[in-house]
Amino acid sequence: MKICKLPLRGLIKIETMKRYYLLNLVLAVFLITGCSGEEKLESVIDNALEFSEKQCLLMAEKYAAQDSILPRSFENGENTTSSSRWWTSGFYPGSLWYLYENNKNPEILKYAKLYTDRVEREKYTTDNHDVGFMLYCSFGNGLRLTDDKHYEKVLVTGANSLATRYRSDIGLIRSWDHNKDRWQYPVIIDNIMNLELLLWAYNYTGDRKFKEIAVSHADKTMEHHYRPDYSSYHVVSYDTISGLPHLKQTHQGFSDESMWSRGQAWGLYGYTYLYRELKDERYLQQAQNIADLLIHHPNMPEDYIPYWDYNAPDIPNTNRDASAGCLMASALIELSDYVDKDRAKEYMTVVEKQIRALASPEYTAKLGENGCFILKHSTGAYPFESEVDVPLTYADYYYLEALTRLKKKLNR
Ligand code: GLY
Repeated sequence: MKICKLPLRGLIKIETMKRYYLLNLVLAVFLITGCSGEEKLESVIDNALEFSEKQCLLMAEKYAAQDSILPRSFENGENTTSSSRWWTSGFYPGSLWYLYENNKNPEILKYAKLYTDRVEREKYTTDNHDVGFMLYCSFGNGLRLTDDKHYEKVLVTGANSLATRYRSDIGLIRSWDHNKDRWQYPVIIDNIMNLELLLWAYNYTGDRKFKEIAVSHADKTMEHHYRPDYSSYHVVSYDTISGLPHLKQTHQGFSDESMWSRGQAWGLYGYTYLYRELKDERYLQQAQNIADLLIHHPNMPEDYIPYWDYNAPDIPNTNRDASAGCLMASALIELSDYVDKDRAKEYMTVVEKQIRALASPEYTAKLGENGCFILKHSTGAYPFESEVDVPLTYADYYYLEALTRLKKKLNR
């Protein structure tokens, strides 16, 4: 048989080269992915942060010249914005601070300061509870990273404004002033997030009133917002004479008895940081109970990014809420530091799935698209058909917080 035209030595050389290239390819894949074949988590985080910085810079440039404008969402092909009055005003500046924390880019710092300043007038807000969100995400992160003394003053003024909404006979901060004919004294689960500003103010000023308000609000919320299975109502309204709940309802969820996803995540995040700040074991237990409920919920999807309500009737044919997934991821990373090894491992397995999903093209937008927001698929207020399946500033904020926390944890 005469098949081989090349001399045998030439053939051996080609085979050796092929093997050499193949080996190099396998080595390169191994270096990027580890032995699992998946991209390494460290590399997922770095790429996500690198992309987020570029995307957020595009957003920063978009509104830099429009004094007092803050990004809000992107609907029907158009960006929506708000003034500092809207409850989400502090999240975009906060996102810039997280990006600055990860990569000390002076351009990001410039914009973080510019957009943070736009929220300052909210330090006088006394007509709603959102002053905590507005100021602590913007000025709070700014202070943490720059030690700017002016930021301290803004935060103390803001904490005093928030404290005016507390009634000692009821023991809670009033969330909203609207719908007075329906709710006597409405408190929403989201309000648990605003206590972090008060606890900062207590540590900074030493004024015990801030701590007393925070503890009372946290305890009453645990008592009256939570059902025996550790799911939470959205709105609890208190009778102003008896100081006891007269209504337990929803506002943004599917029904009064359902589990509105972001509300569950606010609670998880809230009791986690309350434990960090106050070292009260009851808060740690509460956070663990909520985490267990959410992680093992039969309607939790495989990527652990919840549907907008755990009891939405059309699951799985309904919308997700990426913001609830981001909040949950960020909270679980922190909570994993406070629990036993097995629980911590379980929480971090969930977090890894969430982060990989969020960083994938399924949730992460392309550069310059999605109104220059990082993430797609959040839900603001489904029952009002408002901000459904859109990007939201708070999804991006808690995503960046989760990436930052995870990066630090992996580097420890
Ligand atoms: N705090 C309002 C919301 O979560 O939609």
